[in-house]
Amino acid sequence: MDLIKLLRSQGFGSRNEVKYLIENEFVRINGELEKDWKKSFKNPFGIEISVDEEVFVTQEHLYIVMNKPADYETSHKPKHHLSVFELLPERFLRRNVQAVGRLDVDTTGLLLFSDDGQFIHQVSSGNKRCVKTYEVGAKHPTTSAFFEHLLNGVLLHDDNETVAALSCHSVDECRFSMQIDSGKYHQVKRMVAAASNRVETLHRTAIGQFLLPAELEAGQWRYLNETEVQACLSKAESQTRTE
Ligand code: URA
Repeated sequence: MDLIKLLRSQGFGSRNEVKYLIENEFVRINGELEKDWKKSFKNPFGIEISVDEEVFVTQEHLYIVMNKPADYETSHKPKHHLSVFELLPERFLRRNVQAVGRLDVDTTGLLLFSDDGQFIHQVSSGNKRCVKTYEVGAKHPTTSAFFEHLLNGVLLHDDNETVAALSCHSVDECRFSMQIDSGKYHQVKRMVAAASNRVETLHRTAIGQFLLPAELEAGQWRYLNETEVQACLSKAESQTRTE
């Protein structure tokens, strides 16, 4: 793969835009200025490149974690708020990076993005969907009957099957964590409502065994490494029914 194709694959624009960057000395490889746009790479991934001072390692696929802030829509075409995609660099969008599932506008926490269709499918809609963990702030104090109801399964409005939480753990009087492995529309809010309570705050803390990194502030993102990608796909450890 030549340098032009490589930079295009990393989201740096059209052939002409990339050529411009190379010819005008914006591109460095391993810290060295590179002006030869025909330079060829046997293995094009894992190379440290800087473009106009942005340093990155070339990757076949992107895997990104964001701490989603409230008041952002998980959509390329938001209706009433800003889009989470506005928090990502333009070049990721040129690579067709998608959100891995959706979080509601008022839901915060762990949101993944990728351009790897298989990964997106495995996490969000495969047969063996990954377990998602949420921390829920409820309107009314929780009770053991409430947890039993969620764990035994609730019937959602407009559905003919019950859906059950995999686990529920009380955090304090009105807060609890809950794990689910399906991804129905507004699922946590609807399940909690069906069990006679109401979600006031919702924060996703984990997907599979991958926990939202504590250092990521709301609105911040970072790349996932290979181990973290695998952790997202691994079965969560605490799938117990206990409260
Ligand atoms: N369940 C919900 O109700 N909302 C979300 O954003 C995610 C899960």
